[in-house]
Amino acid sequence: MTAHRIYNFNAGPAALPLSVLETIQAEFLDFQGSGMSVTEISHRSKWFDAVIEDAIARTRRLLGLSDQYEVLFLQGGASMQFAMIPMNFLGDGDTADYVNTGTWATKAIKEARIQGKTVTEAATSEDRGFAYIPKDIAFTPGAVYAHITSNNTIKGTQWDAFPETGGVPLVADMSSDIMSRPLPVDKFGMIYAGAQKNIGPAGVCMVILRKDLLERTPSSLPTMLRYTTFAEKNSMYNTPPCFAIYTIQLVLKWLEETIGGLEKMAAVNQAKGDKLYSLLDGSDFYQGTADADSRSLMNVTFRLPSEDLEKQFVADALAAGFGGLKGHRSVGGCRASIYNATGMDAIEALMDFMREFERKMG
Ligand SMILES: Cc1ncc(COP(=O)(O)O)c(C=O)c1O
Repeated sequence: MTAHRIYNFNAGPAALPLSVLETIQAEFLDFQGSGMSVTEISHRSKWFDAVIEDAIARTRRLLGLSDQYEVLFLQGGASMQFAMIPMNFLGDGDTADYVNTGTWATKAIKEARIQGKTVTEAATSEDRGFAYIPKDIAFTPGAVYAHITSNNTIKGTQWDAFPETGGVPLVADMSSDIMSRPLPVDKFGMIYAGAQKNIGPAGVCMVILRKDLLERTPSSLPTMLRYTTFAEKNSMYNTPPCFAIYTIQLVLKWLEETIGGLEKMAAVNQAKGDKLYSLLDGSDFYQGTADADSRSLMNVTFRLPSEDLEKQFVADALAAGFGGLKGHRSVGGCRASIYNATGMDAIEALMDFMREFERKMG
């Protein structure tokens, strides 16, 4: 029986490649001849060992990571990283810069300050409701790191080129655009991403960490809050989120073997974004909310002429088989999240629906 599937524009948890879901379904009762489900096997078994090793190897290949970097899988979501980063990296007298581009960056700053850490808001786009990515940022020489949010899920903005920091390593929250494009990895001391948008289900956060930063971790921290704990034990100090890591492994395999790597993925994402934004640009009915030079290729945010029309748009879209188009509750409006697994077919179908809705209601 073919499952009922809608066009899924959820912001996260979000669409996964259909072929990945089918693989999970096919091997769910008997994982690789083990006679057990992947949710039933030991994380210390040869089966799970192969899963996590393959997930790490694929991450390394896709991003071109040197062995200077650790690839870790942690729990607590990206939100836990907001706390762990300053906790592990900032000692007495140390400072870090944060670029405030919206809700998630604001939370990251807050978690550092709660701990009494000295962090500077090196730039903010709050003056215009976070509709753009700041330029000309005055980074602090000697800062331990400079934190950015590479893609702002709520406001629909994204860093295109990454900023010059004068040698200060970037620490980036890439929760909503990890693995959507190749990266100049050398600029980054750390990359982290809650998996549930572009690479897997909720319950795991991918952390890519430059090894020298591990030397900063104070041994006085609780064991579970130290990066060194997980780096020393290959993310298996305690029971890791096995099912989530397994799904990531399959998504990364799909990225490598079906898509053909991050250059190819980036080209597809660019084409999808160009199409959808061209509809917004050509319409007086739909208005994009992000500045043109800061637009996200992952979360396309837009308004309709009234909140009533927005409500109706979301409801009619759902009835027509398009889910997840409501904007984040903190900002309203509409949002189409078009992560890696959302194909051009979904974009084109959505655009047909949007044109028809405008024709009827505009
Ligand atoms: C950019 C960004 N950072 C952090 C988070 C929080 O992630 P988590 O729910 O994994 O803590 C989100 C969630 O939507 C996000 O979009």
